[in-house]
Amino acid sequence: MEMLIRWCVAGILSLLLGYAAPALAFEDDEACLMCHKYPKMGRITEEGQQKSYYVMPHVFSKTVHRNVPCRDCHGYIKELPHKPVTEGVTCDTECHSIQNPSTGKPFSHKPIYDAFKKSVHGREKIAEGNDADKPYCVNCHTNPLYNAKEEKPPKHIVDRCVVCHEDAKFAEKWYNHTSRRIREVKRSPQEIVEMCSSCHADKEMLGRHQAAAKEEGRELGRKFMIAAESYNESFHGKLSKYGSDNAANCLDCHANTVNYYLSVHELLPSRDPRSPVSAENRVQTCKQCHVRADENYAKLDPHPSSKKEDNVFKYYAEITYTVVGNVVLAMLVGLAAFETWGRLRDGVSWRFRDGSSWWRRTRRDSNRIP
Ligand code: HEC
Ligand code: HEC
Ligand code: HEC
Ligand code: HEC
Ligand code: HEC
Ligand code: HEC
Ligand code: HEC
Repeated sequence: MEMLIRWCVAGILSLLLGYAAPALAFEDDEACLMCHKYPKMGRITEEGQQKSYYVMPHVFSKTVHRNVPCRDCHGYIKELPHKPVTEGVTCDTECHSIQNPSTGKPFSHKPIYDAFKKSVHGREKIAEGNDADKPYCVNCHTNPLYNAKEEKPPKHIVDRCVVCHEDAKFAEKWYNHTSRRIREVKRSPQEIVEMCSSCHADKEMLGRHQAAAKEEGRELGRKFMIAAESYNESFHGKLSKYGSDNAANCLDCHANTVNYYLSVHELLPSRDPRSPVSAENRVQTCKQCHVRADENYAKLDPHPSSKKEDNVFKYYAEITYTVVGNVVLAMLVGLAAFETWGRLRDGVSWRFRDGSSWWRRTRRDSNRIP
């Protein structure tokens, strides 16, 4: 929840800080902020959830969506003062105000949306039943800040642009837009594992889906129930946990590398031949990093588990090794105990002297056992 609307909903914090809104850094043509600039704005829903409707103007003005007028997204608001809201923002709406400069058409996230709809996670914004478990755009994306670490675009760059473009605002806008993408905006491997595991480690939710799939006669992957926990068991999982950025994370294998930024939205199950982890493509996927990987190497299990239903051989091997290990250990300790008991019985006692530890009390009290 916190992730969902961090930027729109941060009123309480500001209230505590006693923040007063400065002059706006973006145009509020629709006068939404007339009301929504007040930190206390919000309510408690019927479910008892606290909601803030405060929009922090100084934060919003630094986000990637700052040029999108409120109603391009909140299109369901048709009049002011507006009616209570029933549906939410969908991410496939066309902007009325922003043109895609490359096509001249109204901008929208439709290409990503279409890919997403066909993926394993495809769902509607308002979803019911099991579909509601799948991630919608806002589960993974907040409204990110441009170059969050920079106070302002560097002067020496803007200076150079204004030589020709004359308008510093224009230069800053495009500097922000492009520089954010030229710098890598990928999440770290650890963040990706955390993101996918937030659902794929939730046994109760997964169980619900497996039961439903069985009922509908639908197939799910062999590793569906254990994907996250088994990844953590794997070599890649352990490396990644200890901070390696080179070990494969979920998306290195499950997303196509042809266009990473699009294909993270079109994840397919391994039984689909187009998936990078399908039997057909697996060698190629391992080869991205393991240059010499062949058919045999690709058979190594990236989701290893020693559950009986997953890997019978490993299951029994593990039991056998546990038994053998424990028996050997018990015999070793037993032997030592037995020997100690025997020596004590023979009057050999244990103490340090002259570099040795076992001594027998004799007439001269110094006779070392050879
Ligand atoms: C006259 C004051 C006013 C103006 C102007 C205004 N709002 Fe609101 N808005 C409110 C109030 C009051 C609520 C809380 C309504 C409620 O609790 O049912 C609200 C709630 C909302 C909500 C959350 C609704 C929900 O139930 O989830 C959204 C989204 C919203 N406004 C967007 C906008 C947008 C976009 C604009 C500009 C087009 C705008 N508002 C302009 C007063 C206003
Ligand atoms: C890029 C699209 C986008 C823009 C632009 C945008 N919002 Fe939002 N807003 C969202 C999304 C997504 C949510 C999360 C709730 C949802 O999914 O419907 C949200 C949530 C809100 C909420 C809380 C609603 C709730 O149900 O908790 C308010 C209030 C709000 N926005 C007001 C505004 C105002 C005012 C502006 C303009 C300054 C604005 N928004 C601009 C996408 C947008
Ligand atoms: C030597 C002059 C010059 C400098 C310096 C310069 N530009 Fe440009 N820029 C132009 C010209 C001329 C065009 C339009 C012609 C073209 O498309 O090649 C243009 C086009 C653009 C466009 C495309 C605008 C559109 O709507 O098509 C953007 C964006 C842009 N420049 C950003 C920048 C940024 C950011 C900087 C600084 C890092 C910069 N420019 C530096 C001359 C310059
Ligand atoms: C399961 C999580 C997930 C879901 C759901 C998701 N995305 Fe993404 N999205 C990502 C990841 C991961 C990236 C790659 C960049 C990164 O690592 O943040 C990305 C990248 C993007 C980018 C490129 C950002 C840039 O600056 O280059 C856009 C735009 C985008 N997503 C929009 C959407 C839209 C629209 C939806 C809904 C249809 C959506 N995403 C659903 C995880 C997700
Ligand atoms: C918000 C929860 C959520 C998140 C986050 C999430 N998933 Fe899923 N995932 C699901 C659900 C629910 C299903 C659908 C199971 C079904 O078809 O009933 C699913 C299905 C899948 C499947 C197909 C399973 C099959 O056998 O058909 C794969 C592969 C998958 N997810 C991988 C990922 C990866 C990789 C990530 C991280 C980028 C991720 N998921 C993030 C909830 C999530
Ligand atoms: C080294 C590559 C690799 C990595 C890393 C990886 N997977 Fe997989 N994943 C696979 C392969 C290959 C399969 C098919 C295994 C099989 O059925 O034998 C699979 C199967 C799955 C399945 C079952 C559905 C299906 O498509 O068969 C899910 C869900 C899944 N992975 C999610 C994840 C998540 C979540 C992560 C990260 C925590 C992850 N994977 C990391 C290669 C990988
Ligand atoms: C994003 C890069 C990447 C991808 C893709 C990848 N791996 Fe790895 N893998 C690594 C790294 C890094 C190590 C650490 C050991 C090393 O340097 O060889 C590793 C180690 C391993 C190990 C441990 C033993 C060994 O050979 O060093 C196995 C087994 C393994 N990977 C299997 C696979 C399989 C099977 C696939 C394809 C389904 C795959 N990997 C895909 C990066 C990757």
